[in-house]
Amino acid sequence: MITLGLDLGTSALKLALVGDDDRVIAATSRPLSVQRPAPGHSEQDPDAWWAAACSGLDELRERAPADMAETAAIAVAGQMHGATLLGAAGQTLRPCMLWNDGRSQAECAELEAAWPALRQVTGNCAMPGFTAPKLAWVRKHEPQVFAQVAKVLLPKAWLMWKLSGQFVEEMSDASGTLWLDVAQRRWSPAALAATGLSEAQMPRLVEGSAVAAELSAECSARWGFKRPPLLAGGAGDNAAGAVAVGAVRPGDAFVSLGTSGVLWATTAGFAPNPARAVHAFCHALPGTWHQMGVLLNAASALAWWAQVCGAPEAQLVEEAQAWSASNHGTPFFAPYLAGERTPHNNAALRGGFAQLAADTPRAAMTQAVLEGVAYALRDCQAALADAGTVLAEASVLGGGARSAHWVQVLADVLNLPLYQVAESEHGGALGAARLARMAAGDGVDVARAPRRLRSFEPRASEARRHAEQHARWQLMAGHANSFT
Ligand code: XUL
Repeated sequence: MITLGLDLGTSALKLALVGDDDRVIAATSRPLSVQRPAPGHSEQDPDAWWAAACSGLDELRERAPADMAETAAIAVAGQMHGATLLGAAGQTLRPCMLWNDGRSQAECAELEAAWPALRQVTGNCAMPGFTAPKLAWVRKHEPQVFAQVAKVLLPKAWLMWKLSGQFVEEMSDASGTLWLDVAQRRWSPAALAATGLSEAQMPRLVEGSAVAAELSAECSARWGFKRPPLLAGGAGDNAAGAVAVGAVRPGDAFVSLGTSGVLWATTAGFAPNPARAVHAFCHALPGTWHQMGVLLNAASALAWWAQVCGAPEAQLVEEAQAWSASNHGTPFFAPYLAGERTPHNNAALRGGFAQLAADTPRAAMTQAVLEGVAYALRDCQAALADAGTVLAEASVLGGGARSAHWVQVLADVLNLPLYQVAESEHGGALGAARLARMAAGDGVDVARAPRRLRSFEPRASEARRHAEQHARWQLMAGHANSFT
């Protein structure tokens, strides 16, 4: 059976046409850019997603027309939490406010005060970037927009609507809205009412591996499918990544070094820890949940630093590796370029270097960036441990996973065996393709992990050194933020 997976990320939309045994027949991607019209704001124009999807699908059809024509099912994975607001005529009311948009801190506090059951029902604390606080912001600051909202869609649900004409959402992504009763896997009317919304403004809910809709006749003809493929529910990008690497049993884990940084663990049940800003969400598979710690900047911190330096990331990382081998001290870096979620839940936090000296070279500062992201992920590891989840090993995904040096630093800092896996460059698109196959009724061994390319064992002496440095880094990160 042939299925098609799309992953609507923040920096790119990825597409993969996949055959039996997860064999990638053809894959491509289209870059996306983020608009920051004001400090702390982060937006994208949904039309750019559609243009990227259309041109990517055009390319796949051109490269593999016969396979494409046989596609039985499609699923879409996507960046989570974004608020795409549609009017009654299907018009986009404003640019989508993304997962890393920090403008709604005040509304988070207001929501929690107005509806004290929020943490208990949603399993999470209100964090800027989640969908509900953003709608509360729109209600307060753009009342004329709020009054017109007929549907609120997460980015991938918007793309599914463009592909099928149907308003459908699935549990893993819906968990990040703060409108889902995460234990019961259904919209919470009380949560919606707290934001002045009702279930009529939400898409219908399905499980990620269930049939959600069918591709529209128009789209089916445009891309030359023999029969209109069905659309599966799909997944949030992290849940799709988990399905791609077979992280479906309790304790299965991965670290993602993408635009965001994620420490994911599949859990035996719904296991919240809102006090430490742990995300406790539904998985994309029925009856399955997970926890994650989320950083707003991981690979994007390195990308920022490369831009500041005007040098390619690969060259900077090479310099940093040589520096770390030289055993000179490394300064500290706090990666809070857009605030932070786990464990701080504070959109006002900002990043910073500390312990710079007159002779500190660029290489040392790059190493500090790599270590700073790793230390922040160690904070996530502690938050998950506090919620009862202790990891034994994890795969590494996302653009940063390509750097063996960074992955080794991460293994040392987390004191955790890590491994790079095959095909991780396709991101959630492979997980989406698996979900599509399940929806089409074809047997999938969802627990099957991709081939391990390389393992990274923590080095005992480095792990000890980083445990001490992490404690100092926490102080420095705190000091850096006393400037805010
Ligand atoms: C998860 C989160 C990010 C985005 C990135 O809560 O906000 O990982 O999903 O696309």
